[in-house]
Amino acid sequence: MPSLPKSLQTAMADTVEQVEAAIDVLLPRTDLAEAKLYDAMRYGCLGGGKRLRPFLVMESARMFGVNPACALRTAAAVEFIHCYSLIHDDLPAMDNADLRRGRRTVHLEFDEATAILAGDGLLTAAFEILSDPETHEDPSVRCKLVAALARAAGPRGMVGGQMLDLIAETTTFDIGAITRLQRMKTGDMIAFSATAGAILGRASPAHLHSLQAYAHDLGLAFQIADDLLDVEGTEEETGKPVQRDEQAGKATFVSILGVERARDQAGRLAEQASRHLEIFGDRADMLKEVARFVVERRT
Ligand code: IPE
Ligand code: IPE
Ligand code: MG
Ligand code: MG
Ligand code: MG
Repeated sequence: MPSLPKSLQTAMADTVEQVEAAIDVLLPRTDLAEAKLYDAMRYGCLGGGKRLRPFLVMESARMFGVNPACALRTAAAVEFIHCYSLIHDDLPAMDNADLRRGRRTVHLEFDEATAILAGDGLLTAAFEILSDPETHEDPSVRCKLVAALARAAGPRGMVGGQMLDLIAETTTFDIGAITRLQRMKTGDMIAFSATAGAILGRASPAHLHSLQAYAHDLGLAFQIADDLLDVEGTEEETGKPVQRDEQAGKATFVSILGVERARDQAGRLAEQASRHLEIFGDRADMLKEVARFVVERRT
C-alpha cells in the first residue's frame, strides 16, 4: 500500500529537495574547456522553481508503486525540458525577459549564444536520461517514455504551442484557437508529467486514461492561472516580469474573457480535473490537492 499522503506543502518541498539533488548529480560541474555550457545549464535548472512537473511525475509514480529512484530520473528529465523551454522562452527573440525564478535570465547571466546552447543541451540530455536502463529495466517502457516526452515537447506539443504563442501577438485568435495554443504550449508537458508514472508502472489503459483526462484539464487551468498572474501578480511573487502579455499584444484567456471569467474557468477546470481521479479513491488525494494549488497559487 502506498504511504498516506503528507500535506501537499511538505510533499512538494520534498520533491524540490530531491529534484535539486538529482539534477546536481546528473549535471555535474566540469573543468572541461566547455565548462561554460555546463555552468549555464546548471544555472538554468538549479536553485528555483516550483518543480510542479517533477511532483506530478513522483506522485503518479507513487500511485503505481514505481521505484522512486526511477521516478526521480524521469522527473529530472521532465524538468530539464521545462528549464530549456524557459531559457529559450526568455530570449530576446521570444519574450525578452530579464528575470526568471527571481534571478537574471540565462542569456543575461551568460550570453545569448550560450543560453541557446544550454537549452539545446538540456533538451538532448533529457532523452539520454530516459533512454538509460537505470530509468527502467524494460526497454519497451523506456521507449514509450521517450516517445511520449518527444510528442509532448515537440512540434505537436510545447514547441508548436510556442510558435502559436508568437503568432498570437499579431493574429486574432478565438477562444478555441487559444485553448489549442495553451494545451500545446503548457498542457502537453503537464500531461506527460502526470501520466509518466502510469507508463513507468505499466498501468491499465483505464487508469492511464483517467490520468490523461485529469492532466488535460489541469494543464489548461495551469496556463490560465499563469496568464492571471501576469495581470494580477507581482514580480516579487512570481520571480519573473509581469504585465508582459498585454504589452506584447498576446491573446490569452484573460485578454479574451477578462479576469473574472478567466478565474472562474480555471476553477471549473481544476474541479473537473479532480473528478477524473475518482477511479483511484483516496490514493489520488494529493493530485486532487495539486489541482486546487494550481489555480490558487501566487507563484
Ligand atoms: C512557467 O512554468 C512557464 C509556463 C509554462 C507557464 P512554472 O510556473 O511551472 O515555472 P517554475 O518552474 O515554477 O519556475
Ligand atoms: C511559456 O509561457 C511556456 C513555455 C513553454 C516555456 P509564458 O511565456 O507565459 O511563460 P512565462 O510567463 O514566461 O513563465
Ligand atoms: Mg512565452
Ligand atoms: Mg515568457
Ligand atoms: Mg506567462
